This record gives sequence, structure tokens and C-alpha cells, in this order.
Amino acid sequence: MIWGATRKLLFRLDPERAHALGAGALRVLGAAGGALRPRPDPSLRVRCLGLDFDSPIGMAAGFDKGEVLVRGLHALGFSHVEVGTITPRPQAGNAPPRLFRLPEHQALINRMGFNNQGVLACGARLAGLPRQGRGVVGINVGKNKDTPNERAVDDYLAAIDGLHSWADYLVVNLSSPNTPGLRELQERGPLERLLGACVDRARPLGKPLLVKLAPDLAPEALDEAVDVAVGCGASGIIATNTTVQRPGAVASHPQASQAGGLSGAPLAPLALAALRRAWARAAGRIPIIGVGGVMDAADVYARIRAGASLVQVYTGLVYAGPALPRRVLEDLPNLLKKGGFATVEEAVGTA
Ligand SMILES: Cc1cc2nc3c(=O)[nH]c(=O)nc-3n(C[C@H](O)[C@H](O)[C@H](O)COP(=O)(O)O)c2cc1C
Repeated sequence: MIWGATRKLLFRLDPERAHALGAGALRVLGAAGGALRPRPDPSLRVRCLGLDFDSPIGMAAGFDKGEVLVRGLHALGFSHVEVGTITPRPQAGNAPPRLFRLPEHQALINRMGFNNQGVLACGARLAGLPRQGRGVVGINVGKNKDTPNERAVDDYLAAIDGLHSWADYLVVNLSSPNTPGLRELQERGPLERLLGACVDRARPLGKPLLVKLAPDLAPEALDEAVDVAVGCGASGIIATNTTVQRPGAVASHPQASQAGGLSGAPLAPLALAALRRAWARAAGRIPIIGVGGVMDAADVYARIRAGASLVQVYTGLVYAGPALPRRVLEDLPNLLKKGGFATVEEAVGTA
């Protein structure tokens, strides 16, 4: 009810302005500490990537692009926050407007283009974050727009070097549609070289390293990417980023022709299909994090049953509001029980 009214007001604002207001509120909430944080049911605990998560639900990359809103997001009930994408050098991203709402579809289109303040500024903020009671922090890294793909690996390694000390896990993002040519790095040859180098750098640091993939890969290309990830020793896969497709009725929306990646409800079938396929191909060798179009607890449960060990949201938070993680924490134990599962881990991949 209160969220309905608040959302109406926020949706009158430019989406980036609304985001800035939300970030301000999260800073206040974060400063209040973890006292307000919901306590997840023990059945929701997940051991994954060598880390303890108090529930499977996490904040996907791109919401906190290095402002470090981790404490506030943790207080909302997220077990983990993926900060990023962070590039070695600061960059402004694409010119606004670059974020568009499609409320009729519970969707967003964005072409932010990795706007972020770079490794040094992000590292300085992360250094001020208390280690205790902050939840799990992932750091998602990328390349600067003006770095050619042939030298992309240098950017990924520089970002890993600069930020690993604050990361519980690292993510190599190769799937944003808003950095020209980036997605080509998901092809076998470049992927083997780039991911192999990043895994070799992260391993002695003791940090699990995952790769985040696009929902627009052909099924065979996705299989190949999973094989490469397993082969080069990556710790997991995140499926998926936003899509460049405009599926179904979205195609006729006035904003559909905006360039950028589509997220939210219309992405769900594509992201779910990619998750299922990645799960089948990985065959238990590495875990999959499911993301894309997750809007409520039932969606979280479905992703877990489709093979996700952890589930992330972004657009769901914009439409369902800040109570979303808390509601998932309340409803998911019942969904598990009804399905005959004592824990999240028992339910993974059972659909
Ligand atoms: C405004 C916006 C910015 C994003 N920025 C990033 C980013 O910097 N890095 C990244 O890996 N994913 C980014 N994403 C993708 C999300 O992490 C997520 O993979 C995608 O939105 C699908 O999930 P959703 O449907 O729950 O939003 C962004 C998404 C949105 C909506």
C-alpha cells in the first residue's frame, strides 16, 4: 500500500533521479546498522563458492556501481550484494537518457555503459566498509570502453588486482550489451584466454571467480561457454545479464526501440532457459547463479528448482519495492516445505 503510493511518486521522476533517492535512503538505512535486518529461516542457508550465504537472494550487479550501498541492501534482507561493474579507470558511461521504464511489462531498458568511478574510488569506499555483519560482497569487473578487446584482459586483471581484497567473490562480466564488442569475448577462443588469465590471477588470492553470461547466446554457444568456464577452473556462472531482444508484446512498446538491454519480467523465460541449460551442461561441476526477471518468492523458488544455487534481482526491486527481499525470506521456507524440501540446497536443480 505504502509502496504503491511511493512508487507512483518515484515513477514521476526520471529513473536515474529515482535511483539516486533510493540510494540515499539505503545509505541512511545502512548507517542504522544491521539491527533492522530480517533473520532468515535456517532452511534458507546456502553454502556455495566456499562461502556462507544466509539466504539465496542477492542484489544483482549494476544497482550498486561502486557507491557501496552494501550495508543498506544487506539490511533490506539480501544475503549478498554484487558491486559493479567496475572498470580500471573511471568512465561517464553513455549520455542520458539511458534508463527507461516499461511499467506495463514490469521491465527496464538500460544502456548505462558501465558508468562508474573506477577501481581506486571504489576500493577507497570498500575499505571503509566494516567486515562484520555486512553479508557477502561480490565485485563485478569489466573493461573500459576505450580499451580494445585485444587488451581487455589487462583491464580485467587490473580491476581484480585493485579490488580483490574487499571481495568475497569476483565476477568477470562479458555480457553487457552496452560496451561495443564486449559480448564477443564470450566466444571460445577469447573466453579461454581471458577467463583463464583471470582464474589464474584469482586462485592464489583465494577468491572464487565467476563469469556472467548473456541470455542471447545460442544454446550451443552457451554450452561451449560453460565447458570453457569449467575447463579453466572458474568457480561458477551467472545466468544472465540483460537481453538485446524485445520478446512478445514488448516489441510494440513505445520505448522498445531504445538501444540497450532489457531486464525484468519479459527477460524471465530467456534467463530461465539459459539457467536450465547451463545447469544441465555444468552437471554439478560448478554452481549457477540465476538472475533475470525474478519478481517474487515463487520466481526464486522456480530458479532454485531449475538449478540456481543463488538467485539475484535488480528490476524486481524497482517494481516490487524494498520489501521484496523480506517477502522472499518469509515465503520461500513455505514453498520449500510444500515441495517436500528441508533446505534450499536440497531443492537445487530438482525441476
Ligand atoms: C540499470 C541497470 C544497470 C545494470 N548494470 C549492470 C552492470 O554494471 N553489470 C552487470 O553485470 N549487470 C548489470 N545489470 C544487469 C543486472 O545485474 C541483471 O543481470 C539484469 O538486469 C537481469 O536481472 P533483472 O531482470 O532482475 O533486472 C544492470 C541492470 C540494470 C537494470
